[in-house]
Amino acid sequence: MQIAAHTDAGHNKASREDTVLGNTLHDDDRVIEISRLSTRFGEHVVHAGLDLEVRRAEIFALVGGSGSGKSTLLREMILLQRPDSGSIRVLGVDLQTAGDDAALALRQRWGVMFQHGGLFGALTVSENVGLPLREHTELEDALIDDIAASKLALTGLAPEVGAQYPSELSGGMMKRASLARALALDPELLFLDEPTAGLDPDSAGGVDELVRRLRDLFGLTIVMITHDLDLLWQVADRVAVLAEGKVQGIGSMSELARMDHPAIRQFFDGPRGRAAQEQEARQADAHTDTKTERPPSKPK
Ligand SMILES: Nc1ncnc2c1ncn2[C@@H]1O[C@H](COP(=O)(O)OP(=O)(O)OP(=O)(O)O)[C@@H](O)[C@H]1O
Ligand SMILES: [Mg+2]
Repeated sequence: MQIAAHTDAGHNKASREDTVLGNTLHDDDRVIEISRLSTRFGEHVVHAGLDLEVRRAEIFALVGGSGSGKSTLLREMILLQRPDSGSIRVLGVDLQTAGDDAALALRQRWGVMFQHGGLFGALTVSENVGLPLREHTELEDALIDDIAASKLALTGLAPEVGAQYPSELSGGMMKRASLARALALDPELLFLDEPTAGLDPDSAGGVDELVRRLRDLFGLTIVMITHDLDLLWQVADRVAVLAEGKVQGIGSMSELARMDHPAIRQFFDGPRGRAAQEQEARQADAHTDTKTERPPSKPK
């Protein structure tokens, strides 16, 4: 089981700080390594020699315009799609050469929260959360129900929500239930596709805190795709901007905000970007922890 990854948060945090400070990066600290990745659909080139690295216990975000290849990259990282060339290593395993057993083992070490939740409508929330445990373990039903209840509590849902069906949930509750299911097998790595899309600012703010708490408590490595500038400013350690088939810039939001590349400027300019710039200016003034502030209002 991956409980060890959860109880080892102190070590993971230390590793993260080392890497943030630019000290030696050990192999174990590279949770995802992508090199010279190319993907095309017919004549349409989506990734053209893309390189990327995600480090242990960081909150890593992928941003980029519509059609820049973010979701395709996510699908490739979770074995739902194969690139045309290049290599992807996840948790030390080369996805290109991994056999069925290695792929199955890997799938149990990561959790995925899909953009639209992906919960089964015919199952209760508790049954949905317990599903990965029923599929991948031989645990007894009563224990699976207990674990499902604990995951629901971890994501901030009341116990009675377990007996409800997905159609009875609000958007924010659906995201949390989907996150609870992604956490069912105690993953080391969590993929989140637009975790705050479609949520009102209050619910979205709750997701910010939840994501940060999961990393801080359990040392989880989190990879998220998001357009939500609040979320990026609040929780992302590093952000990669995808454009023209490659990562055009990578760094903290403050670092990106100072970069001149057109694709990065496009991301920051306009109304959304102005909120981001205000945020950056306020952070510079305050000299405080960049993760504790929010822009005055949610960017439109
Ligand atoms: N199965 C497919 N067949 C053909 N083209 C595809 C397929 N999947 C994705 N594409 C194309 O690849 C490009 C990248 O798609 P992708 O879904 O990765 O973009 P994205 O960055 O996630 O965009 P968005 O922000 O709109 O979700 C798009 O032009 C899309 O039309
Ligand atoms: Mg997408």
